[in-house]
Amino acid sequence: MKILLLGKDGQVGRELCRALLPLGEVVALGRDGADLRDQDALLAVLSSCRPDAIVNAAAYTAVDAAESDRETATQVNALAVATLARHARAARALLVHYSTDYVFDGAQQRAYSETDRPNPLNVYGSTKLAGEQAIQAAACDALVFRIGWVHSRHGKNFLNTMLRLALERQRLDVVSDQHGTPTSAEFVADVTALAIRQHCAGRLPAGTYHLAAAGSTNWHAYARYIVAGAAARGASLTLAPEQIHAIAARDYPAAAQRPSNSTLDTAKLSHALQLRMPSWTEQVDRTLDQLSQTGKPAF
Ligand SMILES: NC(=O)c1ccc[n+]([C@@H]2O[C@H](COP(=O)([O-])OP(=O)(O)OC[C@H]3O[C@@H](n4cnc5c(N)ncnc54)[C@H](OP(=O)(O)O)[C@@H]3O)[C@@H](O)[C@H]2O)c1
Repeated sequence: MKILLLGKDGQVGRELCRALLPLGEVVALGRDGADLRDQDALLAVLSSCRPDAIVNAAAYTAVDAAESDRETATQVNALAVATLARHARAARALLVHYSTDYVFDGAQQRAYSETDRPNPLNVYGSTKLAGEQAIQAAACDALVFRIGWVHSRHGKNFLNTMLRLALERQRLDVVSDQHGTPTSAEFVADVTALAIRQHCAGRLPAGTYHLAAAGSTNWHAYARYIVAGAAARGASLTLAPEQIHAIAARDYPAAAQRPSNSTLDTAKLSHALQLRMPSWTEQVDRTLDQLSQTGKPAF
């Protein structure tokens, strides 16, 4: 199987470079090899590569910046995805794509399942939902994974931001009324590889799946967990967990509105793949272990 991986330098993309290797030949491209704002260049890549599967980990992920740059977010998260889906349909290729927990408005108390109605609150979520709809409209063979609160030892994410701030600050205010599930890019990539394998063997139907660790938390409790875990691994920090104070989202200025609950119900995927979803704390522990072994500044 020949796999075209787009977005190889992102958090999930980096892990996919490793996880997809046992499945076949992987052609991994970053922004310089395939810019999703350029439809003609994207089509040229698709026709010269002729992949059996396209795995799209590239996206416009700057949630706040998207509020004032709807055009670029739409190009990357919706129009380019439509191009990929139409190509996949015509070439009978599999499309694997990632969407977001931010397609939901958060009004629901329980975790969101795949049958719950999306209603995004922000531009990023709207453009990601448009990408999902483009895949449905193209009716190609596709696996779409909704993920959220991604962490990795690499890249921009909440965990790395908290560690950086914990080296500088002696007080931090973090939102406590938004709930979700921290999930590692490594886990997302490993489950993706398993899902592709099972799909190609006829054991996993095409469709949309929620992919997340087990359990849920809020940003404030998550921040405290990160800082306590880093300190326990020998990090020399200026910030202690109890110096992280809970605030309401309405008191934290941000361009984009975020859902108060974006916890994902993963029963569909865990049943289909016979998976035990590890707890979010197990996954954060693993990322902290990896960071402590790589000698990053905090450690
Ligand atoms: N991170 C999260 O918490 C989260 C939550 C929900 C869903 N997701 C979804 O999960 C997927 C993977 O996200 P991630 O966390 O790995 O994101 P990420 O670390 O921000 O990586 C996204 C990658 O897309 C690339 N990209 C952006 N614009 C591009 C363009 N015009 N052409 C080509 N490449 C472009 C970026 O390249 P540069 O590095 O050059 O900018 C980056 O390498 C995305 O579909 C995202 O929407 C992520």
